[in-house]
Amino acid sequence: MIEHPGFVLWFTGLSGAGKTTLAKAIEAELQQRGVRVERLDGDTVRQSLTRDLGFSKEDRDKNIERVTFVAKLLSRNQVAVLAAFISPYRETRAMIRRETTNYIEVFVDAPMTVCEARDTKGLYAKARAGEIPNFTGVNDPYEAPENPDLHICTDLESAEQSVATLLRWLETRGLIPVTP
Ligand code: ADX
Repeated sequence: MIEHPGFVLWFTGLSGAGKTTLAKAIEAELQQRGVRVERLDGDTVRQSLTRDLGFSKEDRDKNIERVTFVAKLLSRNQVAVLAAFISPYRETRAMIRRETTNYIEVFVDAPMTVCEARDTKGLYAKARAGEIPNFTGVNDPYEAPENPDLHICTDLESAEQSVATLLRWLETRGLIPVTP
């Protein structure tokens, strides 16, 4: 394993924007480079650590608070943490930045219409049919980052391009080793 500082690469954005896709691709790249990495993803974390929570503002905040706690423990032990959560509230994301060292906010951005057309999990259709209350972007807010560290427009560039941008950003800041 290569020594490097820990960090929290935090992907925020609408459901279907591409957070998980990017986090998985970065995870594979970092593993190849011998970087200790953990990926935390709303889709899986909500089946375990936060399975008791729903999607009210209060519950979403609790979800993010617990994940932040884990991310803090991991990152201070030189683990590269990749976190993919809608995390729709600005103030909550500011809390993550305060609580963790080397927090990097990645705004995974795609227009609502694009996310809805992708509808990878069929959830937008259900939300439109009134079957899912508080669905982000449909009947629940998403507060877009005003000043993210990285802004990735997944409707305008390929996943490969986005991954390259993210890796270069981490490399230039000495957070990951440069590939030979
Ligand atoms: S967060 O708002 O608390 O950060 P998180 O990223 O953990 O959300 O979970 C989002 C995932 O839960 C979505 O990708 C989707 O699969 C599922 N989900 C179920 N209900 C909702 C809802 N009401 N709003 C958003 N996502 C939902």
